[in-house]
Amino acid sequence: MDTLIRNGLIVTASECYTGDIAIEAGKIVQIGTGLEGADEIIDATGKYVFPGAIDVHVHLEMPSGALVTSDDFFSGTVAAAHGGTTCIIDFATQERGKPLSQAIATRRAVADSKTVIDYALHLEIIEVNERVLAEINELVKSGYPSFKLYMAYEEIMLQQDDLLSVLNQLAESGGIPMVHTENAWYIRQKVRRLLSKGKTATAYHPLSRPPEGEAEAAGRIILAGELVGCPVYIAHVSCSETLAKITAAQHNGLMVFAETCPQYLLLSSACFDEPEPERYVCSPPLRDPSHQEHLWPGLARGNLQVVSTDHCSWWLRGQKDQAENFTQIPGGLPGIETRLPLLYTFGVRTGHLSLNRLAAVTSTNPAKIFGLFPQKGTIMPGSDADLVIFDPHREVRLTAESLHQRVDHNPYAHLTVRGYPSVTLSRGRVIVRDGHFLGEPGMGRFLLRQPFEHGLTLL
Ligand code: URP
Ligand code: ZN
Ligand code: ZN
Repeated sequence: MDTLIRNGLIVTASECYTGDIAIEAGKIVQIGTGLEGADEIIDATGKYVFPGAIDVHVHLEMPSGALVTSDDFFSGTVAAAHGGTTCIIDFATQERGKPLSQAIATRRAVADSKTVIDYALHLEIIEVNERVLAEINELVKSGYPSFKLYMAYEEIMLQQDDLLSVLNQLAESGGIPMVHTENAWYIRQKVRRLLSKGKTATAYHPLSRPPEGEAEAAGRIILAGELVGCPVYIAHVSCSETLAKITAAQHNGLMVFAETCPQYLLLSSACFDEPEPERYVCSPPLRDPSHQEHLWPGLARGNLQVVSTDHCSWWLRGQKDQAENFTQIPGGLPGIETRLPLLYTFGVRTGHLSLNRLAAVTSTNPAKIFGLFPQKGTIMPGSDADLVIFDPHREVRLTAESLHQRVDHNPYAHLTVRGYPSVTLSRGRVIVRDGHFLGEPGMGRFLLRQPFEHGLTLL
């Protein structure tokens, strides 16, 4: 046996129990008590052992116009590992007129030599035709079951008939769309009105993208999914109106899944009163704090099944602070490193979430929805030994300088968390121990995934 993690409180989506975990050749081979005889023994007494967190929504080294996000696949995955994330799903964006497979090759050429944890790619579809639909079918069957579709961002969004064609194809092929739901036309009108009145300041960004625009688009894609029998996964839910659409659809028996992100659970539009408010610009925008009173129970009840980060780090100085009006500010917040400690401190410690629910929303449910389970997403013999030994007492102030994300600001810098990963293992290898990174670039493996499983049970 290579490694033994001894005497930790093992937390899965359904159980908490004290035990030892034996690891060999990167896999969990045995769980029990009083296990002996490993090359390396890690004492986890007094600590939790979580399944490695999976972040199914990150944008590393993402090009946008002339800009590229500040975290590349090395810095971003090192930061992820420090925060207990052992697997990410990033995006490969279709290039107009080119096969989708080329987008995968382009992205892997950038990422493979840098990632330090295992990773996969969703395909982002920005153009639809018969050839693209045929390729979607082939891709689902060869390990790419998930596709990001945009209902906002006019340069890359799909029109309603194309959305329906893609959903129809995914229903036939066994895939699942991850959908950015905001109504682009409604936003266009809001922006036009604000700018025509000279309202160009950053604080107008949230007013240009109100909750009802997000909820309307969510309702529209849910209905499209219902029409063609396709599951739908709604990305970055920010408000109670969208949650209400999702909850109603689930009550009607529809296959609707959704994620929210720490920024919508913990930050609000009040941040726009602070200096340098462009730090907080993301889409959908931060909302009035009252929405959090709905999002936390929605997460606890299971209407929201996943917390991802939508990590999208832009330099504050030189990128976010260059805009002439709020429409030009690059959108997105950093967060790949801080999800688990934030959710533990402000979710578990406050009583919003149980330890099991934390494991479910950060690891097990994402693995199940996106075709990685049981290789990833749980602690059981046969699964990859992607594990986090989590010290529930370690306190960390989340300043940009104390973190490993390559970016000059952190939206949670005012917060101190209590509870932090002390050891992170990727396929049995310790890659972070007590704040020190022990891995190397390129050690993360690219993951092919299974098609969406109808009748899937989530916790
Ligand atoms: O503002 C955000 N969230 N930027 C990242 C891209 C997206 O919409 O997910
Ligand atoms: Zn999005
Ligand atoms: Zn995103």
